[in-house]
Amino acid sequence: MSRKLHARRIEGIDKNIWVEFSQLAADYKAVNLGQGFPDFSPPHFIQEAFCKALNGGFSKHQYTRAFGHPNLVKILAKFFSRIVGREIDPMEDILVSVGAYQALFCTFQALIDEGDEVIIVEPFFDCYQPMVMMAGGTAIYVPLKPREGCGPVLSSADWVLSPEELASKFSPRTKAIVINTPNNPLGKVKDL
Ligand SMILES: Cc1ncc(COP(=O)(O)O)c(C=O)c1O
Repeated sequence: MSRKLHARRIEGIDKNIWVEFSQLAADYKAVNLGQGFPDFSPPHFIQEAFCKALNGGFSKHQYTRAFGHPNLVKILAKFFSRIVGREIDPMEDILVSVGAYQALFCTFQALIDEGDEVIIVEPFFDCYQPMVMMAGGTAIYVPLKPREGCGPVLSSADWVLSPEELASKFSPRTKAIVINTPNNPLGKVKDL
């Protein structure tokens, strides 16, 4: 009997919007609004800092602290403490990851058990649902809906979350809710 190569946990995760849309944009020579292709260089000071780090000798080419370089986590803690209005401990509360995908993947793997439910607000960034699935959880959706009485031209502010509908999605199995603000794809800033 032949054995399946892929793990069961990735069954049903056989499509990816970025692969599909990038190919469609290339095939039809459309402007690809799904991905950014900057036609300008990064600011000079970033290029300089990058060169300085590369040319800094062997001491700059070592494993860093696993949760993030001390100088980086300290400055991030200072910056975000101001934003969230509470003291963030740079050595305990911050994990530097290689982009949001990695951070989300680690978070779902660390928090979600088989059978757990995760509430996701629609529309949502594509990776949340497969990441929940891979961790053995079930995604439970709650859509933003147009506010009552809004005109024919809608802005992201007109799309609102009904507290009653959100409350109705919670169950004893609810483990997490994903709040993406500012939201991708809408740009909407959630009023929390
Ligand atoms: C809401 C959201 N989540 C996740 C990602 C993935 O981020 P990254 O490219 O940093 O892994 C993006 C990227 O645009 C995003 O907008």
